[in-house]
Amino acid sequence: MSGCADLRSAFAAAFGRRPAGVMQAPGRVNLIGEHIDYNGFGVLPMAIDRGIAAAWRPRQDRRVVLRSLQGYAPRELELEPPIAPYGPGDWGNYMKAAAQGLLDRGLALRGAEMLVDASLPQSAGLSSSSALVVLSALVLLEAAGCSMPRVELASLLAEAEKYVGTQGGGMDQAASLLGRAGHALRIDFRPLRAEPLPFFADHVVVVANSLVRAPKAETAGYNSRASECRRAAAAAARSLGLAADPQPLLADLLGAAAPDAIVAAAPRELLPRVRHVLNEAARVDAACDALRACDAAAFGRLMDESHASCRDDYEISCPALERLVAIAREAGAIGARLTGAGFGGCAIALARRADAPALLAGLAAGFYRGLEPARVAEALFVVEPADGAGPAA
Ligand code: GLA
Repeated sequence: MSGCADLRSAFAAAFGRRPAGVMQAPGRVNLIGEHIDYNGFGVLPMAIDRGIAAAWRPRQDRRVVLRSLQGYAPRELELEPPIAPYGPGDWGNYMKAAAQGLLDRGLALRGAEMLVDASLPQSAGLSSSSALVVLSALVLLEAAGCSMPRVELASLLAEAEKYVGTQGGGMDQAASLLGRAGHALRIDFRPLRAEPLPFFADHVVVVANSLVRAPKAETAGYNSRASECRRAAAAAARSLGLAADPQPLLADLLGAAAPDAIVAAAPRELLPRVRHVLNEAARVDAACDALRACDAAAFGRLMDESHASCRDDYEISCPALERLVAIAREAGAIGARLTGAGFGGCAIALARRADAPALLAGLAAGFYRGLEPARVAEALFVVEPADGAGPAA
């Protein structure tokens, strides 16, 4: 991604005027707690030092003009509800999602011009989509001279992003808005709340992109898991005699029945999905304990268990991700797992800071051999826990 100064000059060249500011929104890695946010369970991501940024400027009218430094076609839209979406997967839909969500809240928005750049791989499980939604919302709020508490905005944008067609939980928007440098975030839902937990100071997270694109707004896998869980929760509730709520989440059942009883009450074909969700929720609690106890070895084991569960019970891994986690472990990772929605995208590996160069070298030789060094650098990198979205200096 260009630096702030470059983004400002590129904006001036594109729009013929200086920008009012530069806004940025980080991506995230999910350390543990995969596909459980939409089931009502807490998760443990961290915002990272890569994300999306935009130089921007308010307009006097209600038109939003979007340009990208990454080759996406320019987009223009009016802030007049209802805002009709572009086709599935169109990058402009993330701005439209934010705009529609804020308009539904009754905010008097003003137009803006934005030039967007990213230091995150897209469709790779690092939450580039939610970073763009968050960034768009912050620019629209700033352009209109409005503000909103962060937790409220995170909840609003989690709902708003469903505009693009994905039935996501609220993890990604919350991580991007509420991240804190040096910390992972324990995020719980209903109501949304985030607890920053100091991340291991002497360890790093390495991100390795499988290079298998996993655009969740264009493929069925993500939403099909969410609907399987809703179906399983409703059926288990009926069979446990807990049918007061016709549309319960799996987390709702846990207060009334033990995990084993819930798994046993799920329809047979969905039993592994439910088992993953309940075991993964327990692993999130254990991982928070491991962070508090500075026990990286225990944390790594939980990452490995989470990965196995994502592969075997939730079936969201793929051969390239399997190779990546295997190579990472051989090259000295304390734990490794897929991160984000899965079906491709990135794996993460935890390593002592001192062992990171050997881990990077092992992955480069074992997985990315033959790829140009610049492409390897785009796919394989160390991330640090970062602050949430806001104006860039
Ligand atoms: C995507 C969604 C999140 C979450 C993850 C899987 O990133 O946006 O809400 O469900 O997948 O853990």
